[in-house]
Amino acid sequence: MKLIIDTDPGIDDAMAIALAHAMPEIELIGLTACFGNTFVSQSSRNARYLCDLLGFSVPVAEGASLPYGETDYTPSANVHGPEGMGSMETVPQIGTNTDLSAAEFLVAMAALHKGELTVCAVAPLTNIADAIKLDPAFATNIKELVIMGGAYKHNGNITPYAEANIFHDAKAADVVFATKMPIKMIGLDATMLTLLTPHDFHEMAQKAPKIGDFIEQISKFYLEFYRSVGVMTGCPMHDATAVLACTHPEKFTFEDVGLRVILEGEEIGQTVADTSRPKVQVAISVEGQWAVDYFKDHIVSLG
Ligand code: BDR
Ligand code: CA
Repeated sequence: MKLIIDTDPGIDDAMAIALAHAMPEIELIGLTACFGNTFVSQSSRNARYLCDLLGFSVPVAEGASLPYGETDYTPSANVHGPEGMGSMETVPQIGTNTDLSAAEFLVAMAALHKGELTVCAVAPLTNIADAIKLDPAFATNIKELVIMGGAYKHNGNITPYAEANIFHDAKAADVVFATKMPIKMIGLDATMLTLLTPHDFHEMAQKAPKIGDFIEQISKFYLEFYRSVGVMTGCPMHDATAVLACTHPEKFTFEDVGLRVILEGEEIGQTVADTSRPKVQVAISVEGQWAVDYFKDHIVSLG
């Protein structure tokens, strides 16, 4: 499966990229970077660093630095650390971004691999909305868009109503959900069922002294954030769960629902059903223990 991950690394983004790299059925053809957990320049730098650490090379295209209509943005440093990689104080600058913007890269790859490209979007949906605006054929050229974002029956995680990726650019997310294209939404209803415990991280570190250890190190900050908001047992592998939905949809339960995003007021960023919108496959659950075990086995295989 040809895959592009649109990402804002981000601790769980790093886990998703590592998982995709470890899965032989995935051919990762590029990473596109968005603002979100970090400023976009940090996202693309972290993406390039992660490719180097994992030992592969793909184009990294930098995209949106701000949400639609905004002039300012504050990253989620309290969740992912000041540089997006937990308590790492500096992240090496390795290589350079491609000359294409994220939207240009997405549009070009979708046209080149017409009907074959899956895009897994695990950041605010600004780059995806930009790609749709740049080339309306993007929506039909791709095989599928799999989104980590939203909360259908579940509460939000950044407000009681909204999940972070949708909240950080509600307008862009609404453009995406208004577009007729094959979409799976892997929101908190599914991802909150995939908790990795400190013991899971420790086990991966013991068995895989390079990548497993790196993931254990960065996860400490993330686990601490989740503890601070009352999730005591572990941290959800949000973005990696979306990667699994690309390849193993049979492990998820979906409902077909049209969606819109609330664009103002207290509930801004909430994903709600709207029968006038094209149907999206909304994940309402996943076999959580399967996802955790699959993730661990694949990370361990990276050594
Ligand atoms: C999503 O928000 C980000 O903090 C994570 O990387 C994930 O993509 C979870 O709500
Ligand atoms: Ca993310």
